Amino acid sequence: RDKVSTLLLFGATGDLAHRMLLPSLYGLHADNLLPDKFRIVCTARSELDDDQYRASAVEALKEHVPGSFYDPKTALIFSRRLSYVAMDATKPEGFKRLAKTVDPDAGLAIFLSTAPSLFKQTIDGLASAGLCGLRVRLALEKPLGTDLGSSREINDAVSNAFPEDRTFRIDHYLGKETVQNLLALRFANSTFEPLWDAAHIDHVQITVAETIGLEERGAYYDGAGALRDMVQNHMLQLLALVAMEPPAEFDATSVRDEKVKVLRSLRPMRPDDVGTHVVTGQYGDGAVGGQPVQSYEAELGKDSATETFVALKAHVDNWRWAGVPFYLRTGKRMAARKTEIFIQFKCVPHSIFASRGARTKANKLLISIQPEENIRLLVMAKTPGLDREGIRLREVPLDVGLADAFADHRRRIAYERLLLDLIDGDPTLFVRRDEVEAQWHWIDGVRAAWNEAGLTPMPYGAGSWGPSAAIALTERDGVHWHD
Ligand code: BG6
Repeated sequence: RDKVSTLLLFGATGDLAHRMLLPSLYGLHADNLLPDKFRIVCTARSELDDDQYRASAVEALKEHVPGSFYDPKTALIFSRRLSYVAMDATKPEGFKRLAKTVDPDAGLAIFLSTAPSLFKQTIDGLASAGLCGLRVRLALEKPLGTDLGSSREINDAVSNAFPEDRTFRIDHYLGKETVQNLLALRFANSTFEPLWDAAHIDHVQITVAETIGLEERGAYYDGAGALRDMVQNHMLQLLALVAMEPPAEFDATSVRDEKVKVLRSLRPMRPDDVGTHVVTGQYGDGAVGGQPVQSYEAELGKDSATETFVALKAHVDNWRWAGVPFYLRTGKRMAARKTEIFIQFKCVPHSIFASRGARTKANKLLISIQPEENIRLLVMAKTPGLDREGIRLREVPLDVGLADAFADHRRRIAYERLLLDLIDGDPTLFVRRDEVEAQWHWIDGVRAAWNEAGLTPMPYGAGSWGPSAAIALTERDGVHWHD
């Protein structure tokens, strides 16, 4: 593979750069994973010189690199890889200056961590300055549009300058170690895959619960809402990894071919189904972790009908998953931060213990992605005793504590993996155009259906598990959310 020698980072003074990208690049540098002489050219509008930018980068590292891994000397050496070009992406002059600073023929990765409204102009500017040659690849951060139409516009603008094999669309969930572990669990073990279908699985739950609120992202978030912000990308990617067929190989084409088939098999939402398949909510006042917090509208400073919570019942209409509901839910200001996939298997076909008064529960597999990194299989075991008054069975966990099993491995930021793959030119963990568009296609259908059905967000207390209707959504099917 063709490694690049320079990373050109747009939006280098932004929140993502400070919180994630610089700390990730620092991590790669500290582990000697960046190519020798690898340079990071940073750009944004602020008028700063190299030294000022480097100083601000070191401050960001101090704040955001996990404590024990931060080393001031390493940070200083790392900062020498950084240089800064002040420029306005809406004007051509800056691109001419950039063209003098970077050599596209020496291999260049460009990372757009800016507002999507700047994508088209930036790409045009890069193209007119000759910065999209054969050895240049482009990485894009979400949101890639607000619907299928606007996503296509972005993708068209990108494809005018960068062919698909040099376009790296980021979904940072794919950089998370435990998300990748889902593939290892499914395809590096012989135990689960034979049971991974409608004959053995009753339903699947995917939860991405956050305790944070709006976090000064009101301008973006209020126009997006939970469905577009979380379900359209991260949650549908998780669903695709759970539901996909085994790819022939772990390579970009095979994996993404299988994911896109799942995304295209999602059953379109009909207005008539909205009442039983979708619940939206918006947080009111409440308390998270014992601290009182304001309502969404108070944080935003105006009235809003944007959903900060959504729960959905989805179906993957193919042979493997016929009749298996996939319950998805995500929300801000919920009771706890947790991202998990919960697989409920079917009950044994006949319980030999029933005549002895024992209840058998169906097996469950819980894949915790964050904050814990754990895979837990719940199996039935006999409670110790002489059983003279009947047999008692109890659910006991078989745990694969990934953090403990790999205690000698540093827990990395998802972007470390993604940035390294970008530098190395491996697109397996990036989202292909057809995937993004299939995701939007389904999401647009959900929105259209809920608009037609007149769905409005129900209030829920900050620090709860969402509106009570979300509980009814699963209880109606005899299913409990795994909390
Ligand atoms: C982002 C969303 O894509 O993912 C945010 O825009 C959300 O609203 C974030 O908070 C969650 O990411 P993580 O890695 O903290 O689960």
